[in-house]
Amino acid sequence: MLFFVDTALLSEIQEAASLGILDGVTTNPSLMAKAGVKDFDAHYRAIAQLTSGPVSAEVISTTYADMIAEARHLHSLAPNIVVKIPFTPDGVKALHTLKEENIPTNCTLIFSPLQALIAAKAGATYVSPFIGRLDDVGHEGMELIRQIRQIFDNYGFETKILAASIRHPLHVLQAALEGADIATMPFSVLKQLFQHPLTDKGLAQFLADYEKLHGRS
Ligand code: G3P
Repeated sequence: MLFFVDTALLSEIQEAASLGILDGVTTNPSLMAKAGVKDFDAHYRAIAQLTSGPVSAEVISTTYADMIAEARHLHSLAPNIVVKIPFTPDGVKALHTLKEENIPTNCTLIFSPLQALIAAKAGATYVSPFIGRLDDVGHEGMELIRQIRQIFDNYGFETKILAASIRHPLHVLQAALEGADIATMPFSVLKQLFQHPLTDKGLAQFLADYEKLHGRS
């Protein structure tokens, strides 16, 4: 399973990359606003230099023609930029055209398995089912991952399942068990994946036992 970090903060991306397990970055306009970004182009370029993996940059346009123009521009900023397209009729049409132009796409705001099926048929490189937001409204987000996995396997779609709107480590575990190709998560969740009290306790004990024999090094 690939790990992406879902943030626009350069410091977080840098720190995540230094761990050696970062495979890519996803952003959205809300994350860009949260990071206080004014110059989006310069910021996407900066992110794209911090990782060799894919960097999702979302279009602001809502019509087909504008989405295509914006997608071409975003992808021209850096070769590893993937264009994030919202799941709308215009968006789906854009996915098809961008596939023909070899511009990689991430179809976002996926809340049903049929939306994912349509995006895959249109040639999306990635689909982003939003697990946490479904949980928030009383639907089991992970069921969506399960159904998309089954549909994509039934028909041999190559579109990657990018589990998004991840809120905690259990979401990452369940998404991995259900066969999501990628989990994109806040940096706080990525850090949580490293933590286990028994690891800390065990290490402290090993060091204490060594010190008993050899003294403090
Ligand atoms: O980037 C899309 C997605 O991960 C957003 O997550 O927490 O705003 O639902 P969230």
